[in-house]
Amino acid sequence: MFITESTKRNTVLSSFPDDLFAAIEDLKKELNAVILAHYYQEPDIQDIADYIGDSLGLSQQAAATDADVIVFAGVHFMAETAKILNPNKLVLLPDLDAGCSLADSCPPQEFAAFKAAHPNHLVVSYINCSAAIKAMSDIICTSSNSVKIVNQIPEDQGIIFAPDKNLGRYVSEQTGRDLVLWEGSCIVHETFSEKKIVQLKIEHPEAEIIAHPECEPQVLRHADYIGSTTALLKYCQQSQSEAFIVATEPGIIHQMEKNAPQKQFIPAPAMNNCACNECPHMRLNTLEKLYLAMKNRTPEITLSEEIRKAALKPIERMLQMS
Ligand code: 13P
Ligand code: SF4
Repeated sequence: MFITESTKRNTVLSSFPDDLFAAIEDLKKELNAVILAHYYQEPDIQDIADYIGDSLGLSQQAAATDADVIVFAGVHFMAETAKILNPNKLVLLPDLDAGCSLADSCPPQEFAAFKAAHPNHLVVSYINCSAAIKAMSDIICTSSNSVKIVNQIPEDQGIIFAPDKNLGRYVSEQTGRDLVLWEGSCIVHETFSEKKIVQLKIEHPEAEIIAHPECEPQVLRHADYIGSTTALLKYCQQSQSEAFIVATEPGIIHQMEKNAPQKQFIPAPAMNNCACNECPHMRLNTLEKLYLAMKNRTPEITLSEEIRKAALKPIERMLQMS
């Protein structure tokens, strides 16, 4: 018999409850759990989540929750941030391998040397980094508050911005500040093809181009609007336009279509004919793994108390300054 991927998936599924959504709802009550999901998660996960948001919204929810268990449908650095804020809660990540190329582009030892080479600089780190990098930082920021945070720092203060060079360059342009940039980037936002986006705009002249600031400058310069995932979502709702070319991970289109079903959302294409605009890390989480994580209360995020305490300070500073 020819076994297709879907046959394999169904075979595995036969050991799962018939109604996975209902089973997850039951486990949520049993554990007093909250499910937090990023917009880049698959639609089923977004639909079962108690809260869907961008990195800032998710950390604010994690800071405020009174649930005993946080099920984090996102990537490792996001779940880790929830654990830093909630040391006594169980924080579950459906797939512990759901990492982030941007966070991985900033190894702690090399960053420590970079920091030492720029004494007297304040370190502002994008939340897409490991707890070890957060512990070496003065303030954390996300794509929705980075400009606001840098604008609050005295003008004569030197600033290191890590790890995303593209967001750093964008923040530098917006604030007029000379930032010392760490050369990190996101594999997903680097993959968009300027040529194909321009071609799409010719085919859909009525469409607005909207982009995440993690994109490269040659893509950002064509954008009618630049913002975090939440900001992009709000913009599509408020804009008079009926069509958008979306230069960020296409998982967010699920919420865009829910919020404005009459509008058209066209995912910006990658350079190669691949699905490289989908984040391979985010997509490791599935509804089945989320169910198993809740049922078995594993895999959980753990952290040394020393790193956690050091990483907490710059996150708290961000929450105060946002
Ligand atoms: P935001 O959700 O803060 O816009 O960031 C997007 C992202 O790259 C998450 O990995
Ligand atoms: Fe990391 Fe990029 Fe995936 Fe976001 S989209 S989790 S920055 S690899």
